[in-house]
Amino acid sequence: MKKFITGSAVALLLASGAAFADGKAIYDTVCTACHNPAVAPTLKSPGLGDKAAWAPRIAKGMDALYASALNGVPNTAMTAKGGNPSLADADVKAAVDYMVGASK
Ligand code: HEC
Repeated sequence: MKKFITGSAVALLLASGAAFADGKAIYDTVCTACHNPAVAPTLKSPGLGDKAAWAPRIAKGMDALYASALNGVPNTAMTAKGGNPSLADADVKAAVDYMVGASK
């Protein structure tokens, strides 16, 4: 039997900008599970880059969004820190910054 080994594509993440580096890493590790545009509509979450979904949320102000990310949004799939209590507050905020920056 022949074995086909598919080399995983090497992603070149060069263009996104250093300012969002940490937030992007957190997003890619944790938040993408629910905020990936492919799954966001199903989960009723604002997807990365979905300006229409983010606009009314951004209008609440960053402090409100940080609070939602840190504490969760009651009665939704958005739990505190995206379900990862071990994340530092600063990392969660950086992930919010990244998502907001990519969605307006
Ligand atoms: C298990 C799924 C899930 C994960 C993981 C998740 N989210 Fe969410 N998130 C949601 C859903 C669903 C909503 C929409 C909640 C609502 O109805 O306002 C949401 C909403 C938000 C909002 C907007 C809140 C507001 O007040 O409008 C922010 C900010 C946010 N998430 C940040 C994050 C960050 C940062 C992470 C990663 C650390 C993360 N989320 C991980 C499901 C998730």
